[in-house]
Parts: sequence; structure tokens; C-alpha cells
Amino acid sequence: ERRDPGARTVTAPATGKADHSVAVAGFPFPFPKETYRYSTNVEPASVPRPTAAGSWGEHPVDIDHAYRDELAERARILSADPSRLQCLPHMVPAAWDAMFVLMEQLADAYPQHMSLTREGGGWHWHNGLLGIDRCFAVGETSSMPEGPLGFIGQQLQEDIVLLEQRDGELWADAGLVTFAADWSFGFDVGMSFLEIHGPVPRVHDEGVIPRAQAFLMRLEPGQSYRRTNWTLTVDGKLDTSTETYPEWGPDRTTLVDGPLAAVGDRLHLRTEVQHLIRLPESNAIMFLIRSYLLPFAALATVPEWAARTAEVLEELPADMAEYKGVTRTREAGIRWLREYGGVCEGSAAG
Ligand code: HEM
Repeated sequence: ERRDPGARTVTAPATGKADHSVAVAGFPFPFPKETYRYSTNVEPASVPRPTAAGSWGEHPVDIDHAYRDELAERARILSADPSRLQCLPHMVPAAWDAMFVLMEQLADAYPQHMSLTREGGGWHWHNGLLGIDRCFAVGETSSMPEGPLGFIGQQLQEDIVLLEQRDGELWADAGLVTFAADWSFGFDVGMSFLEIHGPVPRVHDEGVIPRAQAFLMRLEPGQSYRRTNWTLTVDGKLDTSTETYPEWGPDRTTLVDGPLAAVGDRLHLRTEVQHLIRLPESNAIMFLIRSYLLPFAALATVPEWAARTAEVLEELPADMAEYKGVTRTREAGIRWLREYGGVCEGSAAG
């Protein structure tokens, strides 16, 4: 069954409890195995991936029930901190390229709502979900005063980073990132792929990052791949970037010190679906990061997910847990899954 793009989360009238079924059906559950380790986990994009509760991954861009809420949140964050949108001068052509490809992908995925058509010497973009119509010519700033990334970023839930390939390396020289998980786009902009991954444990000795970069540099125009990453987040906050740490950091302590019963609604499994796309005109790499948040109470409606999550969290090595910032919250999550989530003590696989 196809989800209705732009629909709101439903509240079941009989119980007054949130009905998580829409979010669960489209949730990209990130644990294919009982243990989690870093790897160059890439696979071709646009292949739907069935899960125990539904499926995900049909398109590189995904509009779901949270569309309007997340776009409003992005607008709020951007107006408070314009450094979340940056484009170094040499990346302007790549930003136009990215906008155009994203419009094509949105129109391809949601033809009932979106279209990109030739009009006169330029183009006409239509987004029926938001009531947006815009005629523009690629590269003509007067037709896109908010800039190509600013314009398209108001219309999709994905964060965007653009990387230029030069001197045998990739450089993150442009992007629009409002939902970073414990990193700062403003700090990373202009840095190389290897520098950006500097703080990640294990991957350097294991060669994961140089291998990933070599793979990305070989991508052909139009090729798209994807991977997932995950963490735990409190209270469903999408903006857990370094800049706003004072706003979200203390939530971890109040979660751990608070009542166990509240953990099911407060603690969320956050999956990032990341797409890696070679842009055809500029040769830049477009990195899309889409963040999905699922409260543990919703996770527990799928027994396989509850058991697997407890298992992975329990086994996760301390250095990875520390880097991800889940050292204490994972313990609360495991306890909640055992007490309230139907996962048996001693045997996470239940
Ligand atoms: C973090 C791998 C592509 C930006 C990470 C982590 C891994 C990883 C394992 C640690 C995640 C965690 O534990 O939560 C990879 C692989 C890639 C890839 C295998 C490609 C195949 C990219 C690209 C960018 C990027 C294209 C764009 C700039 C980041 C950032 C972090 C990160 C900003 C957080 C670093 C920090 O703590 O400051 N990546 N990544 N990654 N990655 Fe990647």
C-alpha cells in the first residue's frame, strides 16, 4: 500500500495514543545482522527493500507523513542559523546541477504532485503539495533568488552535501544540512572526505574510509548508490548538530535519570538513509542524508525489530557506543525493551 505523501501522523481516537503504523511501515530498519560494525556498506539505489513491517528505498527522495512538519522545522533552523546552508563560489554550477536532478527525481517519484517541464527557453517546476510554481533558467540567479539549494531544500526532507572531486580527493564544498546527528556542517564545509571522517573510530585502521572514497570517485554520471547509518536520539529531535548541543545534550541525562516507563516514547532509533549520486553536468557527488526517527514504543510493535535492536545495542563495542553518544541511553533502551517491549531477559533474540 502506497503511503500518502504529506499526510499527518494519525492519532487513534479510541485510545488517544499515537498510531505509529505509518512511520513503522516506511521505517528503514538498519540492523540486518545481530552485531553492528562499520563497513563500506553501499548498495544500488532505487531498489525497494522489504522489512518485517513494510518497505523503503523505492526512490532516492522520499516524501512521507512528516513532510510539512520537517520542512517547517528546517525553515525554523535555517532562519536561526543561516550557516546551515553554504555554497563555496566554485560550487555554484554543482548546486544548480543538484537542484535540477532533485527536481527530476521528485517528479519521477511523485508524478501526481510534481512536474518539471520545458517552458519557453527555460523550465517550469510545479510542486502541488506545497502550491509552488516557478519558472527558471538554469544558472540564472534572478529566477531563483533563494539560490538553487535554498529553493529545493524547502521542498524535500533530505539534507544535502555536495562534494567536488579534485586532486584525487573529495571535498565537501557546499550543502544544506539542518538535521546533522552530532556533527557540524558549518565546521566541516571546505574539508576533505578523509578529514571529515577523522573523528570516527576504527574506520582508519580498517581502511573503510579510503575504500569508500575510492568507490565514490569511480562513480559514473547518473549512478546512484545508498547506505544506512544509525544512532539513538531523545525526544525525536532532528537537529542534534554540534551548534545546538546545549538544547539536546541534557535530554540524555533526563532520559536516563527519569522513569523507565517514559523511555518508550522518548528514546528514538534514528536511521539515516544516505544516497551517493554522481551529478551529470558538474561531476560533483551529491550526498543526500534522510533521517528517520522511530520511538522505541513504535519499534516494539514489530517483535523482530525489538529483539534485534536489544541484541545489537547490548553487543555494540564501547568505543563505537561512545562515539555515537549512546553509552548511557543504550542501557535505558535495552532495559525498556526487556521490561515493556516484549524482549526476553538474557536472550535478546527472544
Ligand atoms: C560519519 C562512513 C560517506 C560525512 C561516518 C561514520 C561512518 C562513515 C562509519 C560514523 C557514523 C556513526 O557511527 O554514527 C561513510 C562511508 C561513506 C560515507 C562508508 C560512503 C560510502 C560520507 C559522505 C559524507 C560523509 C559522502 C559527506 C561529507 C560524514 C560525517 C560524519 C560521518 C559528517 C560525522 C563525522 C563526525 O563525527 O564529525 N561516515 N561515510 N560521509 N560521515 Fe560518512
